[in-house]
Amino acid sequence: MSGTLIGLETATAAVRSGACVASAMALTPASVSDARRRVRTVAEELGMSSTLVDDLVVITSELTTNALRHGGGRLVCHGGRPVAGLPELWLYLRGSKRPELVTTVFDTGDFWASAVPAPASGRDVIGEDGRGLQIIAALAEAAGGQWGVHPSRSRLGEQRLAGTAVWVALPVSEPVRLPLTRAVGPDESIGRLVELLRSRGVGGLIARATGQEAVLSLPRLTVWFRQGTYIWQGTTGRLSADAGDVVDAAEQIIAEYERAR
Ligand SMILES: Nc1ncnc2c1ncn2[C@@H]1O[C@H](COP(=O)(O)OP(=O)(O)OP(=O)(O)O)[C@@H](O)[C@H]1O
Ligand SMILES: [Mg+2]
Repeated sequence: MSGTLIGLETATAAVRSGACVASAMALTPASVSDARRRVRTVAEELGMSSTLVDDLVVITSELTTNALRHGGGRLVCHGGRPVAGLPELWLYLRGSKRPELVTTVFDTGDFWASAVPAPASGRDVIGEDGRGLQIIAALAEAAGGQWGVHPSRSRLGEQRLAGTAVWVALPVSEPVRLPLTRAVGPDESIGRLVELLRSRGVGGLIARATGQEAVLSLPRLTVWFRQGTYIWQGTTGRLSADAGDVVDAAEQIIAEYERAR
C-alpha cells in the first residue's frame, strides 16, 4: 500500500525530527512481529531503558493483535491489492517539557471503546482472554505513561478512512528536543495545524490570524492559537497543546472532529 515510505533505518531520525512515522500492516500474523521489531528499534535508538523497551514491545503486541483480531474495518482494494484501510502503526514524540514516545495502532473498525469498560490497571493481569487492555494499562501506569482510545482517521493509502486509534505514551528519558519548540508566530502555527488536518482528509477549515493570535474553524469545533499554545474545547473540557506538539494536537483535534460527526 502506498504511504509506507519510511524504512526502519530512517524511522528514528524522522521521529526525532518531530514527524509521525506511519507504517501499514498487512493482515497477517507476521505484522505483529514486524511492529514489535519496528517499535523496539525506534525506542532503543531514542535511548529508552531496556525495561521500558521490553514493556513497549509487549504493549505493541497487544495493540497489533487486537487490531488484526477485532479491527475488522473497511479494506479498499484495486486489482486484488489493498490500497487503503489496512491497520497502521504510528510513532511520534510529544511533550516538549517531559518527552514521551507515542505508539498508536489504528484500524478502520468502528469506534468501540464506549462498549468496553475501561480496564483499571493494578488488577490481576494473569488469566485467560480479555486481558490485553489490562496489560497495556498496567504497563503504561507502571512506567509513568498513559494510554487511551479515540476515534481517528487513517494516515496512509489512497483514501483517508475513519477508524479507531489505541495509543500508549511512555516517557523518553534521554532529553529529546522537539524541533518545533522554537517560538513561531500564530500564523505559521495555525498553518502547520491546517496542513496536518488537511493531510488526514479534514475539510471545511477556515483559518484567520490577527497578529497576536490565530483562530481555526472546523465543522463544529474551534481552535485558538495564543501565547505559543493551541487551545480547543474538547468533550472533556478545555484542552491545550504546546506549539511544539502540533502532531499530537492534530491527533486530539481529529478525535474531537470524529466524535462530533
Ligand atoms: N482494535 C480493536 N477493535 C475493536 N475492538 C477492540 C479492539 N481492541 C480491543 N477491542 C475490544 O476490547 C476487548 C478487550 O480487548 P483485550 O485485548 O483486553 O482482550 P481480548 O483481545 O478480547 O483478549 P486477549 O487480549 O486477552 O487475548 C476486545 O475483546 C474487543 O471487544
Ligand atoms: Mg487482545
